[in-house]
Amino acid sequence: MSRPAVIFGGPSPEHDISVSTGLQACHVLDDVYAIYWSLSGRWFLVDPHLEVGDFAEGVPRKARELTFVATPDGGFLAKRKPLEISVAVLACHGAPGEDGTLQAALDLAQIRYTGPGASASALGMDKYAFGAVVAAAGLPTLPRVLLTDTPPGFDPPYIVKPRFGGSSIGIEVVDDHATAVALAATSPNLADGAVLEPFIAEARDLQIGVRTHPEPDLSLIEAPVRGEGILGYREKYLAWGGSGRVDRQLPADLPGDLVERIHTLARQVSELVGLRSVARIDFLERNGEVWVNEVNTIPGSLAAYLWPDLERRELLEGMIAEAAERPPRRFTTAGADGLALRAAGSVAAKLG
Ligand SMILES: Nc1ncnc2c1ncn2[C@@H]1O[C@H](COP(=O)(O)OP(=O)(O)O)[C@@H](O)[C@H]1O
Ligand SMILES: [Mg+2]
Repeated sequence: MSRPAVIFGGPSPEHDISVSTGLQACHVLDDVYAIYWSLSGRWFLVDPHLEVGDFAEGVPRKARELTFVATPDGGFLAKRKPLEISVAVLACHGAPGEDGTLQAALDLAQIRYTGPGASASALGMDKYAFGAVVAAAGLPTLPRVLLTDTPPGFDPPYIVKPRFGGSSIGIEVVDDHATAVALAATSPNLADGAVLEPFIAEARDLQIGVRTHPEPDLSLIEAPVRGEGILGYREKYLAWGGSGRVDRQLPADLPGDLVERIHTLARQVSELVGLRSVARIDFLERNGEVWVNEVNTIPGSLAAYLWPDLERRELLEGMIAEAAERPPRRFTTAGADGLALRAAGSVAAKLG
């Protein structure tokens, strides 16, 4: 009998949050494979009833190593036998589980999965590309540039963010461009590129969940309460790791027209990116002015807390049902070895 597989962990700076998100999903769903992706990038079948603490020293005891083979007859193999996976429930945060890498590998293995496809996932993880797409569509967003030797055309202070990152890791506020450049030269978190935007000290975060199944649906709007400075990794880990120890206003106390505006923007972003399953869209707001900040295509805790009236199980089962309905991505030559292009008479055209 095939069953869903929850995949979590991964060689990502957000590994620990992902373990928490993944185990929450395992505990809610009845009969699942729990696939732990280790920090060193290996795959293990683990007991779905484990707790976060069981991963404190890495791969838990009694874990069975799996082999992942990215071919249509491959997938996750235990002693050379593929696990029969109906749908992979992706609970990974950060690259390479949320940025399209894992999604593309699952496409090659013809395994259905929750969340958006490879290219939408990549767009969601790329703060520069995402900002550009949102701006090009005419939605309100703060000016965001790649950090280079040329100072930006807006005034400091600046906030510097890893171009590909999340959970506030590697984010810094700086007073001038030279400091940002110096930071980029030394910070490992900025090694793959950084974006720069105006730092709006008085801005607050507003966040909303979007679901695409059984029909497009928006969650309540949340206003996380941050301490000094930006909403940091620690606060996010506590909030979205499910400990509930962080202050948040849910629903945020907002005037009706602001709620409407956020709803409209959330629908637009969802369509622009091609979101699927459950995602969280983050905004910055100051005195009624709203900017689209970012999208999380696999949000912490799968954003379940944003729908307090929805059973977690229902949310997950909806994601699974949606993914099950969608055929795996098709490639022209899937299943047929040999020169498929020749059959179409297109080799000559291609070469000529
Ligand atoms: N331009 C900005 N001005 C003020 N605060 C910001 C700005 N951009 C981000 N922040 C704060 O920093 C946090 C992290 O930034 P974000 O862009 O969401 O990156 P991450 O992907 O790491 O979550 C936000 O939740 C918000 O509190
Ligand atoms: Mg964020």
